[in-house]
Amino acid sequence: MENKPIGVFDSGVGGLSVFAKLINLLPDENYIYFGDTKNLPYGNKSKEELISIAKNLFDFFEKQNVKAVVMACNTTSATVYDTFKDKYPFKIYPITQTAAKYIAEKNYSVVGVFATAATIKTHAYQKSINFYNKKVKIIEYACPEWAYIVENKLQDKPENIENIKIAIEAIMKNKPQKIILGCTHYPYLTDVLSKFADKDIFIDPAQFFAQYIADDIKTSGLKNNSKDYEPKFYVSSNPKQFADSSKLFYNVENPVEINISKILIK
Ligand code: DGL
Repeated sequence: MENKPIGVFDSGVGGLSVFAKLINLLPDENYIYFGDTKNLPYGNKSKEELISIAKNLFDFFEKQNVKAVVMACNTTSATVYDTFKDKYPFKIYPITQTAAKYIAEKNYSVVGVFATAATIKTHAYQKSINFYNKKVKIIEYACPEWAYIVENKLQDKPENIENIKIAIEAIMKNKPQKIILGCTHYPYLTDVLSKFADKDIFIDPAQFFAQYIADDIKTSGLKNNSKDYEPKFYVSSNPKQFADSSKLFYNVENPVEINISKILIK
């Protein structure tokens, strides 16, 4: 069991912000990363569309005989984790619900959330944080363009800087102590975000998420002690663009483009 791979997925490079932390904490695992670039952005899709996308991904990882799947994507964690959590013979780790518990424990009074439109629609951060701590006031703000901006490396375009500035100014009116970057693409925007607010105000949920997974893999007796191969990276389209945009978090050299419905990786 221990040497079975860990699957990690996102709509694109965003999940690498989680993966980079995870591989630091668990370097001896076999990893299969899937960036579903063909279906990006997830954040503008309906729940029904996300269910069918996620089913395809979980079926793919089942064929790869994984021991766990890391949902390095807030949008699918928030919208469809509950639909799939007990349906597969491996552990499934959702980022939003996992990170929310740690953030709730910090006892902040006001916390902002930047996330995709689909995530905000579920109020998943608000519900999960308030489940653990009712006193935290959560201010949510949808950023429908940001994942696309990151994926295409457009963060330095004046109109995108302006879009980010408007979002920060709007959320800062509520005087949040912290702002959650509730989409795994958003840590790539840290340089632009910190032009308009102190860098320390932003929380990257990946830090709590990766630590939780590492601890859980160890305590569940699933930890591998010597990997059989270097991480494998797959995308559903645009491998070159994925490689170019990946650099900030994890330098993916040659991701392989595959149609996951039939594939069994050797
Ligand atoms: N990075 C994902 C998330 O955490 C999805 C972004 C998107 O494709 O819209 O929400």
